[in-house]
This record gives sequence, C-alpha cells and structure tokens, in this order.
Amino acid sequence: MSVHSSVKKVTTHVLNEMKLKGEKIAMLTAYDFSMARIVDAAGIDVILVGDSASNVMAGHETTVPITLDNMIYHAQSVVKGVKRALVVVDMPFGTYQGNSRKALASAIRIMKETGAHAVKLEGGRQICDSVERILSAGIPVMGHLGLTPQAIHKFGTYVVRAREEEEAAQLREDAMLLESKGVFAIVLEKIPAQLAGEVTESLRIPTIGIGAGGRVDGQVLVIHDMLGITQEFSPRFLRRYHNLYQEISGAVRNYITDVRSLDFPNEREQY
Ligand code: KIV
Repeated sequence: MSVHSSVKKVTTHVLNEMKLKGEKIAMLTAYDFSMARIVDAAGIDVILVGDSASNVMAGHETTVPITLDNMIYHAQSVVKGVKRALVVVDMPFGTYQGNSRKALASAIRIMKETGAHAVKLEGGRQICDSVERILSAGIPVMGHLGLTPQAIHKFGTYVVRAREEEEAAQLREDAMLLESKGVFAIVLEKIPAQLAGEVTESLRIPTIGIGAGGRVDGQVLVIHDMLGITQEFSPRFLRRYHNLYQEISGAVRNYITDVRSLDFPNEREQY
C-alpha cells in the first residue's frame, strides 16, 4: 500500500460524523501548491480555495472581479498539494447567480479541471435553483450565509449582518432551505454568535463560522490573515497566529544587506 492510499481522507460524510460526535472542524483557505501542502500535512480538515484569492493573491479590493479561470488555476495548484483534506472551491461572482444551467456548467468545469471535491456558493433562496441543479449532478455543495462578500456592492459595508430580527429570520429560513436541498455544510460569516448558535443547533449538517462565535461546528479563516501576511485587515474575529509580514520583510532586508555587502554568496555557497 502506498503512503498516499493509507491516508484517511476527509469527506463530506466525515464532516457530518464530526458534527454528530461534537468534534470541531478546522478549515483554512489556500490558493497555491506550497501552502496547501503545509496546511494539509499539518492536519487541517477542509481547505477552501476561497475567492478571497481575489484580494490576497490578485490584489483586487473585492471578490467580485476574480474569474472562473482564475479560480480553476488556484484550485489545480491546491489539489496537487493535498493528500487528506476535503478541498472546496468557491464559485466566483457571475458564474451561478440567476442561471442554474450556467451554474452547473461552471461547477462541472471546477470539478473536471481541478480534481477538487466540492464547490461553495454564496446566498440562500435566490440561488436555490443553482444549488439544486449542481447537486443533481452529484457535486457536493457548501452554502455561505450572513456576510456574503460577493454582494458587497449591495451591502455597501462589511459590518456584521443579521443583527435585526428580519434579516436574522431570513437567514434561519435560508439555512433550513439549503439543508433541505442537500448542501453538506454552511459557512456563517460575520453574524451574531447567538444567531449562529441557534442555526447550528437547528441543522443536521455542520456550520463553519468566520466571525460567528464559538457555538458553530467549525471555524474558517483566510490563511493570509491568520498568518499575519495581511496587516491592514484587523476585524475583531481575527486571531493572528504569526506576524509573517514582519518575518518576511526582515528576511528580505537581511538578504539585501548581504548581497550589497558581498556577504552572500560565501565560499560554501558557490561551485
Ligand atoms: O473566500 C473566502 O475566503 C471565504 C471565507 C472567508 C469563508 O469565503
């Protein structure tokens, strides 16, 4: 048996079992082979090839501009680095809203061209036709409710969503609807912890929170944020596990100094 085949892979079924057993699900984003390999080997359960690549990889202000081809490129690289984790790919803005046939065609491209295991779509009742059609092709779907960054131009701001009862009630209904359609998990982004807890308890499928408190079934962060590569983004929910911006900047400054002073390369570093 090869090393590869001896690894117990995380599947959507495994995530459901984790919820039943009360084991928390750890999810992070990754966008390239090298980072995916590190994150997977460290034992992460789910890797999200997030459309946050639009911000942290491509330098766009929002997630709106990233294309399906861009997402497929990132997902292809990530999948090559992963042996164990479930790989979920964000369907980018414009590839699933308002046209379920286009949604299915986009999801099929993602699955066929990348080898990823599932797709994620933002929204509730408005995108239900697309969710249903994608699921009918046997493609696992993860939902995403609360702050849905692809709708930033409608929201106008990245503040906490569903503080008011009307929006909270809608979110509860959307979560039930998505579950009834067959999504295998739902990301809850930037909503009150109390609401996230209630939704989590009302569902059989797992919820994964980002800025949604601790009463959810798992957590997700953008890897550039939790490693401290991004500096300007400091929401209350973000815990930084490192300050890689400073580490990298320090290493680069040392390199520049060594090159300029002729310290690098030394005798042992040449042929
Ligand atoms: O694109 C992304 O990184 C996401 C997470 C923030 C959930 O959707």
